[in-house]
Amino acid sequence: MIKLSQPSISEEAISRVADILRSGQLVYGKECLDFERELAEFLGVRHALVVSSGTAALHVALLALGVGAGDAVIVPDFTFAATANIVEMTGARTVIVDVDPVTYNMDPTKLETLVESWDYPEHLKAIMPVLEFGNPSGIEKYREIADRHGLFLVEDAACAMGAHNSAGKIGTFGDFGCFSFHPRKTLTTGEGGLIVTSSDKYAEKADLLRNHGMKRTDQGMSFKMPGLNYRLTNFQAAIGRDFLSRLPSYLKKRFTLAKSYEIELGGLLEAGMILLPRIQEGHSCQTYMIKLQGNLCRNQLIDDMRAKGVETNLGAQSMSRLGLFTHVANSKQIFTVGADLFENGLALPLHEAMSIDDVRLVCSSLSEALMRR
Ligand SMILES: Cc1ncc(COP(=O)(O)O)c(C=O)c1O
Repeated sequence: MIKLSQPSISEEAISRVADILRSGQLVYGKECLDFERELAEFLGVRHALVVSSGTAALHVALLALGVGAGDAVIVPDFTFAATANIVEMTGARTVIVDVDPVTYNMDPTKLETLVESWDYPEHLKAIMPVLEFGNPSGIEKYREIADRHGLFLVEDAACAMGAHNSAGKIGTFGDFGCFSFHPRKTLTTGEGGLIVTSSDKYAEKADLLRNHGMKRTDQGMSFKMPGLNYRLTNFQAAIGRDFLSRLPSYLKKRFTLAKSYEIELGGLLEAGMILLPRIQEGHSCQTYMIKLQGNLCRNQLIDDMRAKGVETNLGAQSMSRLGLFTHVANSKQIFTVGADLFENGLALPLHEAMSIDDVRLVCSSLSEALMRR
């Protein structure tokens, strides 16, 4: 079976995890601190704080910025539910903006229109764009809109570890950048996440929030504020450190595979059966999702390809279609692009252990399955 995704855990990482397990030093400690230092260096950012998941990273970021009841936060329509869920979990309300059909990221023009016409009772506090599947598009425009309107920018860069544009790495444009280390991401620790910021003040707050509001002082533990336990473990950090050392070559491989998909799928594109995503330089290629055109039954296609040994799936959800986020602003907008991507998106296998021959096999099985429709 060619799997959608398959984390490459090296023998070195396994052996390092075993050493840490034998040492008994399991919870957040030196291995996590070393991992944070290496991540800050890799991203070129002042503060990198590891946490237990990408969801935890988003939660801590919003809490550190003071987002809560009476506030509203803007998220894209096409993403994983965690992006919008976490806004609601702070007590704030989720406001949705439709996405671009080729980059799958929040549409900057629609974002600007919504921000400029905001007249709802909630205080519009933050924009939380998703760099969907690792596409860096739009980040500078989101920053500019946030700055012009006095809003915070929190990057949901869950899928975008290693993504960049000419101005810098994704995750470093926002007041906070938040990453996921789930096994489907470009860097994994099993479960895990990362918060980055260049602000000393926000870093200090985030550090307290992820660890019971505690700070170790010469006098012992000092409790500064109410907090959570979102700590990563040392053995997870060991997996992450090994992954990080291999990440540049893994990202290159992912990019090459995505470009091979573009070539191999050219015929189906020309035949009008599918649309392809834009894969530009700096894309982390966490997922390669095409869009099916016309009335093709995606579930049947997924079953047919599975029978041929190829695992595929839908790409992400449409927040407006979930029916969970009921802010009045959401009922006044139309979310055609996000809904279309939700209903017709097809994620194809993409991970660093694949070969170009695997890509060809995926494409021929897709082609055969489509021709049977
Ligand atoms: C865009 C996005 N945001 C947030 C998350 C949540 O990350 P985690 O699963 O690590 O909590 C995910 C995970 O899939 C995601 O894709």
